[in-house]
Amino acid sequence: MNLLSIRDLRVSFPGTGLRARRTDVLTGVSLDIRRGETLGLVGESGSGKTTIGRAVLGLVPVASGTITFDGQRIDGASRSRRRQLARELQVVFQDPYTSLNPAMPVGATLAEPLIAQGVAGAQAQRTIAELLDRVRLPRTSVDRLPREFSGGQRQRIAIARALALSPRLVVCDEPVSALDLTTQEAVLELLTEIQDDTGVAYLFISHDLTVVRHLSHRVAVIHRGEIVEQGDTAEVTERPQHPYTRKLLLAAPVVDPVRQRERRLAFAREFGREEAR
Ligand SMILES: Nc1ncnc2c1ncn2[C@@H]1O[C@H](COP(=O)(O)OP(=O)(O)OP(=O)(O)O)[C@@H](O)[C@H]1O
Ligand SMILES: [Mg+2]
Repeated sequence: MNLLSIRDLRVSFPGTGLRARRTDVLTGVSLDIRRGETLGLVGESGSGKTTIGRAVLGLVPVASGTITFDGQRIDGASRSRRRQLARELQVVFQDPYTSLNPAMPVGATLAEPLIAQGVAGAQAQRTIAELLDRVRLPRTSVDRLPREFSGGQRQRIAIARALALSPRLVVCDEPVSALDLTTQEAVLELLTEIQDDTGVAYLFISHDLTVVRHLSHRVAVIHRGEIVEQGDTAEVTERPQHPYTRKLLLAAPVVDPVRQRERRLAFAREFGREEAR
C-alpha cells in the first residue's frame, strides 16, 4: 500500500478583482509515494509544485480529487485531525530564515512541536539533543538564535524540527535551492542518511532535475499543473518520454563541460529523430 496517494487533484485560486476568473493551478494531479521512498517532483517555476505540497499539508483548499495518507483520506481533514497528522506529516521549506522564528532560540524551536504533542521536560531535552546530533549540529546550539547560523546550518535546524516527531512523510519544498553547491550536497546527503536510518519518505520538490535525480527513487514531472511523466528515476532521466522532461534535462546545468556537450549532442540527435517522424 502506498503511504501517500493523490488522485485527480484539482486546485484553483480566485482571481484578483471583481470579475476575475478563477485560475486552475492543478488540473487533475495523481501521484503515489511508497513507504520510505523519495518521490522527486520537478517542474519549472509556477508549474504547481508548491501547491501540491501545500494541498498535502492542508494549506490550500482542494477543489476536487482525493489525498490519501496511510489508507485514510486527509483532504478536507478537520483542524484536530490535522494536529494529529502533524506527527506523521511534516515540511521543510526553501528558506529556513523565514520558516524559523528569528527571535526564538534553537532549543525552543525544536521543543515547540514536542510540547504541542505533549512531550516536555527531561524527555524533550533528550530528544532535542538527539535531533541536534542527527543533523550534526553541536548541542550548544540550543541557546543560539537562527541568525547566528549559516544558511546550511539553518536548514539543518529546519530539518531537525521536521524530524522531531518522527514523521513518516516530509514534504521538502526546494530545501537546498537557496544553498551553494557544496552545502547542497551535504544537506542532500544528510536527508538520504536520515531516510536510511528512519525509513521516512520524502516528497522532494525542486525545479532542478539534477538535484532531484540524486536522491529520488522515482520522479514525477509537472508541467502547467499536470503530471506529464512519472516513473523510476533512471527511466525518467535516461529515457524521458515526454518532450518537456527532455527540456528540463537539457536545462539542468552540468558541472563538467564535456559531459554537458555530450548531453546536448545526444539531445539534438533525439530531437532530430523526433522531428523526422
Ligand atoms: N495563494 C495563491 N493565490 C493565487 N494564486 C496562487 C496562489 N498560490 C499559488 N498561486 C499560483 O499558482 C501557480 C503555481 O504556483 P506554485 O507556487 O505551486 O508554483 P511552483 O511550481 O512551486 O513554482 P516555484 O518553482 O516558483 O516555487 C502560480 O501561477 C501561482 O501564481
Ligand atoms: Mg514553489
